[in-house]
Amino acid sequence: MKPILVLHGPNLNLLGMREPDVYGSLTLEEIDMHLVALGQELGVEVRCRQSNHEGELIDALHDARAWAAGVAFNPGGFTHTSVALRDAVAAIGIPVVEVHLSNVYAREEFRHVSLISPVCTGKISGFGWHSYGLGLRALVEMQGRV
Ligand code: DQA
Repeated sequence: MKPILVLHGPNLNLLGMREPDVYGSLTLEEIDMHLVALGQELGVEVRCRQSNHEGELIDALHDARAWAAGVAFNPGGFTHTSVALRDAVAAIGIPVVEVHLSNVYAREEFRHVSLISPVCTGKISGFGWHSYGLGLRALVEMQGRV
């Protein structure tokens, strides 16, 4: 199986110190280490990237088209605003699972709207860093079937 890209959007570099009651106490580096280890268990290489910039996230999605089996993508605040990221997800033609640490539906109303979800294979929200792990497992188990 080709590698899987874990892609983190804006402000997620501050995990651990950013609203820990909402997003948990693990840093991004610790989450990435857990995901690489989970990948090893599942027999798949996991490559992690984070950017605070919409264009860089778009470039990372385009690039993934060439080498990734799928993407576990947390678009952060761009989830609720970005047509350009939605178009990138729709364009690349590989499975993308939208993931969120928090349960976006239990929060402010503006977080209930995702421009990204309609073009994703599925969405996992509310399980802290495990949302990424569940997304990864889904991509591995659904490999070739989505
Ligand atoms: C988030 C939820 C978004 O609404 C928020 O803007 C984030 C993090 C999450 O993982 O719960 O930055 O994507």
